[in-house]
Parts: sequence; structure tokens; C-alpha cells
Amino acid sequence: MNLKTFFAVCSLATILASCTDDNPSTLIDTAPITGLATYKENVKSIVDNNCVVCHAAIPKNGAPMSLVTYDQVKNAVLNRGLITRISLENGNSLLMPQGGPRLPQSTIDIIKKWEQDGLLEQ
Ligand code: HEC
Repeated sequence: MNLKTFFAVCSLATILASCTDDNPSTLIDTAPITGLATYKENVKSIVDNNCVVCHAAIPKNGAPMSLVTYDQVKNAVLNRGLITRISLENGNSLLMPQGGPRLPQSTIDIIKKWEQDGLLEQ
């Protein structure tokens, strides 16, 4: 092929290559779970990153309970409305994490799936 064709092919290849990352599962930080959701695999890191700053082993900033262990997080889902509290709209004063912003929907969905799957530890 001549030089012009070569460059045309190259730029086409570049354009196509830049489009290959459109798969949504690679664009969100939390890929969908294929099996059952578990505390250890899926939930602990979400709570550690978003809740434990206040819901620490010794709760801070007025938080009423810890969310550090499996039993504490499970209990908060069963008895303290955890899923309702993370599912509220931005701006609702009861939304958790307190002060917002609301967690990404894909992250909320993981916690909902954990409940549907039976709140497994591992
Ligand atoms: C900036 C501090 C802070 C962060 C971060 C935070 N919380 Fe809270 N949380 C509080 C405070 C303060 C309360 C008590 C006031 C209230 O109920 O709104 C509370 C209350 C709650 C309650 C209700 C407890 C009850 O018995 O009424 C739940 C459930 C809860 N938080 C879950 C979470 C979850 C899950 C996260 C992370 C996604 C989180 N919180 C992040 C401060 C925080």
C-alpha cells in the first residue's frame, strides 16, 4: 500500500482502538457481581470507604453505632434501615453518608443485592 493508504489505515485503527473501552463494566469502579454478594468480597470495602470515618469502632461525629464488623453492618441493614438511608435523594438530611453525596447507584445496588442474597458473610 502507498503512504497515504497506510496513514489512513493507521488513523482508522486508532479511532477504532479508542472506542473499544465503551463497555460500561470497565468504566464504573464496581463491576457487576456475577455470583452471590458477600460482606467480605463486596460490602466491607464500600462501608470502609464511605461510612467508617464516622461509624468507626468508637463512633465519631455523632454516629450512633459502629459499622466495622460483619455483625454490625448486618444488624444495621436488618434493624436500622441502612438500605433506606443510603437510597435517599441528595439533599435529604437523613441521607447516608451524612452530608452526601449519595453513593453511586451501582454501589447502592451491590448492598441491595447483598440483602437479597441473604446477607452472607463470605
Ligand atoms: C459524616 C459522618 C457520617 C458518615 C460518613 C456516615 N454516617 Fe451514618 N450516621 C451519622 C450520624 C451523625 C447519624 C445519626 C443521625 C441520623 O440518624 O441521621 C447516622 C446514622 C446512621 C444510620 C441510622 C442509625 C439509627 O439507628 O437510626 C444508619 C443506618 C447509617 N448512619 C448508615 C450509614 C452508612 C451505611 C454510611 C456509609 C454509606 C454512613 N452512615 C456514613 C454520621 C455519618
